[in-house]
Amino acid sequence: MTEYKGRLTYAKGTYVEFVVAPNQEVDFGDILVVEGQHNERFYIRVYDFKVKSRWSGLNGVGYLMSKLDENGQVENQEDLDFYLGGNHTVKIAMAEQLCYIDSTGQLLNPKTCPNFFCEIHSLSNNDSALLDELKGDLEIGLLKTGRNVLNLPVGIYGTKAIPEHIGIFGTTGSGKSNLVKVLASSAIHNNNYGLLIFDVHNEYYQALSMHPQVKERLFVYNTNPENEYVTKLKINYAEIEPEDILACGSFTEAQFDALYKMQTIWQENWMKYVLEYDTTDLVEELAGSTGQKFNSRTVNKIKSVCWNIEKELNIDDQQSVILQQILAELEKGNVVLIELKNISPVGEQALSTLLSKKLLQYYSRKTEQGKDGTKPIMIILEEAHRFLGKKEVASNNVFARLVSEARKFNLGMCVIDQQPRLLADKVLSQLNTLFILGLASKADRSKLETMCRKDILQQRNEIKNLDCGEMILATNYMRFAAPVKIHKFENFIQKFDPGISLAGAIQI
Ligand SMILES: Nc1ncnc2c1ncn2[C@@H]1O[C@H](COP(=O)(O)OP(=O)(O)OP(=O)(O)O)[C@@H](O)[C@H]1O
Ligand SMILES: [Mg+2]
Repeated sequence: MTEYKGRLTYAKGTYVEFVVAPNQEVDFGDILVVEGQHNERFYIRVYDFKVKSRWSGLNGVGYLMSKLDENGQVENQEDLDFYLGGNHTVKIAMAEQLCYIDSTGQLLNPKTCPNFFCEIHSLSNNDSALLDELKGDLEIGLLKTGRNVLNLPVGIYGTKAIPEHIGIFGTTGSGKSNLVKVLASSAIHNNNYGLLIFDVHNEYYQALSMHPQVKERLFVYNTNPENEYVTKLKINYAEIEPEDILACGSFTEAQFDALYKMQTIWQENWMKYVLEYDTTDLVEELAGSTGQKFNSRTVNKIKSVCWNIEKELNIDDQQSVILQQILAELEKGNVVLIELKNISPVGEQALSTLLSKKLLQYYSRKTEQGKDGTKPIMIILEEAHRFLGKKEVASNNVFARLVSEARKFNLGMCVIDQQPRLLADKVLSQLNTLFILGLASKADRSKLETMCRKDILQQRNEIKNLDCGEMILATNYMRFAAPVKIHKFENFIQKFDPGISLAGAIQI
């Protein structure tokens, strides 16, 4: 039901002022509609207030002050109430026009301004053109305006948002993991998008297993499975490339060179030979083939990293179909969880690099053969600065390549981080959808303000005051950055199976 909020008293360009109707609440951040004279609807967002009275002038203030005693206290409250009450005082809201619907029902960017004294109302189901744009096909939460949460769903359109990359930023406890759970359950329900989630804390399966379609749509992998629902990750030597090893730490130029030489000479058997043969044999063999005599320490370092990775990621020479299986599951629009809690940071880097690279290679080849029919796939990467920091991006690792090239292949990255300022600018500028949750540090907020494609400067105060589970959603195809109350996962999951009974859960 729409509520009457006030009347327009001033407009210039996209700036609008209106008098708040008596007894009505209007808050910072409220999204309201100005009803035009010819059925147009102008959407505005309130960002400031001023209070004006017929006593606002110097003389008026002087007159009111004369009603106070020598200590500035009220002598006669009734008298003062008379002067301040009624319509002597007005509250004026200052707002910015976001977009408007013309008389034919088309949603447009601001092109004209509303007329004097038009009525202002709260949003309602009549605003379907706007609400359709906000709704998306992957539901995330409800539209928030000011202090109220409206019963109007907000989400993203996966086909537009996924290949253009997403950033989820928020301080610890702001609700990032809950958001991923909500997004993943919407994706499981939708079945049109593949999600590859690198689950650093093994926190997602337990939640997502409540989804009624979990058996058909959710696949979990772990190098050391402890439950029957988890598939054991196994890799064949031939699937490892030097880049996966390079992701495991810092290497000297000589080590880098030796690694690639090894691959050139021994091809897909390179890792197997590195682990099988002695350092002296390897050095000799390399010298024989390339004329280059590598230091034994150089080869030893490579041997040692390969050995660690071999043990951690179950790499051997048995034929394995696991990687192909993961790619096929993703391609069919399923959610794949790679549980990483028990893997060392080095193993994690190697595995994330390997899988993402396979996906990029597979989808780029597919595109060449005509990508029609491929479902978009999104790689969800937590603590993303470890992979996409300034140094990492400069080395053009697989994630940097994904960010710059993948959209052509219908692949997208979803980078999650507590400190967006640690990510390379090149990465931030490629994220066309931002989920901005509560960020304690001003440096992080300022970074996003400068890098965000949408103008979010006016929402600076709102962003500063976001509570847990609240966010600003800014995506390039939406006409404005929308404040959202993210569904609490335990409540949202009920939507898919109302039979699930959880304490305190509400029906959505
Ligand atoms: N939309 C929401 N509605 C209600 N409660 C929420 C919402 N989002 C998160 N919470 C609650 O806030 C707490 C922290 O959320 P969450 O674990 O998602 O934060 P986080 O950003 O992932 O933190 P960290 O960076 O430490 O991993 C959880 O207990 C969760 O239940
Ligand atoms: Mg988390």
